[in-house]
Amino acid sequence: MIKQNKIRPFLKWAGGKYRLLDRICSLLPGGKQLIEPFVGGGAVFLNTNFEHCLLNDANADLITLYQVLQKEGHQFIETCRSFFVKKLNSEKSYYHLRKRFNECLEPIERSALFLYLNRHGYNGLCRYNIKKNEFNVPFGRYLKPYFPEKEMYYFYEKSKRATFVCEDFTKTMKRAKKGSVVYCDPPYVPLNATSCFTTYRAGGFSLEEQKKLALLAEKLSVKGIPVLLSNHSNHFTYDVYQSALIKEFMVQRFISCKAEERTAVRELLAFYTPLT
Ligand SMILES: C[S@@+](CC[C@H](N)C(=O)[O-])C[C@H]1O[C@@H](n2cnc3c(N)ncnc32)[C@H](O)[C@@H]1O
Repeated sequence: MIKQNKIRPFLKWAGGKYRLLDRICSLLPGGKQLIEPFVGGGAVFLNTNFEHCLLNDANADLITLYQVLQKEGHQFIETCRSFFVKKLNSEKSYYHLRKRFNECLEPIERSALFLYLNRHGYNGLCRYNIKKNEFNVPFGRYLKPYFPEKEMYYFYEKSKRATFVCEDFTKTMKRAKKGSVVYCDPPYVPLNATSCFTTYRAGGFSLEEQKKLALLAEKLSVKGIPVLLSNHSNHFTYDVYQSALIKEFMVQRFISCKAEERTAVRELLAFYTPLT
């Protein structure tokens, strides 16, 4: 199922699954349609070959960017390129464009600015302040931010077989039918109290939502629909995924908010095999 040469997502996205593709794809069964309720950077979508993909994320800026690229293709890629020039890689330009992004409602310009912020901002983080929902990541100070042209063209081609939606994962899970295969990469259960990995958007993802997701996965498998889930491996996940098959492994991750603090953490893949 997995391609020989792996394709990188064109966005930097926390929790990206590029390095875990072999593990994920070796467990992901074939089917007519791939459903990803938490698509993020889309590493799994890009590296599998389903007839159709239903891709969701609660981050509206992310989904609008994908929809704009899908519709506009080459022209949009050229618009994005115009922001990747030397004179716009300065602190002053960054904060000016960040303000423009926060005021902009026009989807094409907002999406091009979102990509600019993703590649010029600190660590590729995506963070909004809770009160005003404004993007507030500081300048990244990169020498020459990479313009992901090749990756965008690849995504554009793949997107011809995709539908992008922005809704809560519960709705997307309920769209699965016989022939669907579901891969879930939710914001992870915190490893410990200081872990900052769950803050993908205002509101985060509660333990109640983790339980709801596990329950929905189990219900789908009873209906004959396979569901594969990624998460940290700890007492909580072992408990909520108890009716699934579990594969555990170690992964090098940045678990602190400080970029330099990299350590090995235990993760798992929980597989809900179809019962019919
Ligand atoms: C771990 S990331 C996905 C990483 C992705 N699979 C990749 O390979 O790059 C989790 C995603 O869940 C999204 N998310 C958070 N809460 C959500 C919710 N309630 N419903 C749907 N998506 C949600 C976040 O915006 C984030 O993009």
